[in-house]
Amino acid sequence: MVIAIDGPAGAGKSTVARAAAERLGFAYLDTGAMYRAVAVATLAGGGPPAAWAQELKVLEGSRYVVDGREVTGEIRTTVAAEEASRIASDPALRRALVERQRALMADGDWVAEGRDIGTVVAPDAALKVFLTASAAERAARRAAELGADLRVVLADQTLRDEQDSRREHSPLHAAEGAVELDTSGRTVDEVVSEIVRLAGDAER
Ligand code: DC
Repeated sequence: MVIAIDGPAGAGKSTVARAAAERLGFAYLDTGAMYRAVAVATLAGGGPPAAWAQELKVLEGSRYVVDGREVTGEIRTTVAAEEASRIASDPALRRALVERQRALMADGDWVAEGRDIGTVVAPDAALKVFLTASAAERAARRAAELGADLRVVLADQTLRDEQDSRREHSPLHAAEGAVELDTSGRTVDEVVSEIVRLAGDAER
């Protein structure tokens, strides 16, 4: 069974998806990390992003090696996030990563998070969730997490939201049949419990 979790930056996807996967005993796929790892490789080595997508290795579900180099730490920087958002509009890269993601999820039970899981990668997912939160709350969470200035985070977030939702190929929007969950003012535990309950319903 596949559970697709999509939504904008800072909606809490990673925290929620990881916790839901753990509670359900499912594997967890962070597709944003794949775009970020390709971004790091592109920044370091140049060349077409799609070529790096073929190279990318995902180890133990949470370590990323590209061009023979582990980039797991580097992908969490603002520079990597911005470059990931920029290259994510490249259709050749999207095709290459979607293919890799489908192959990874061909067997077993998965919670996969990103921007296009319910719309493109796994439109037949048993459960599709679109996570949102107010722009102010998303920025506040990120600023606290990164120890960064709220205004800078908000400006960066607005730019990425625009890029992610306006791009021509696979723009961010809720998939047909997706359950929209607003995480504003709700704890991680409440949101995860709701997803676990919805997953139980989907299995029936
Ligand atoms: O979720 P994240 O912040 O780690 O994602 C980084 C960028 O990668 C995001 O700005 C858009 C892109 N992305 C995408 O286009 N499709 C996905 N399935 C996941 C991420």
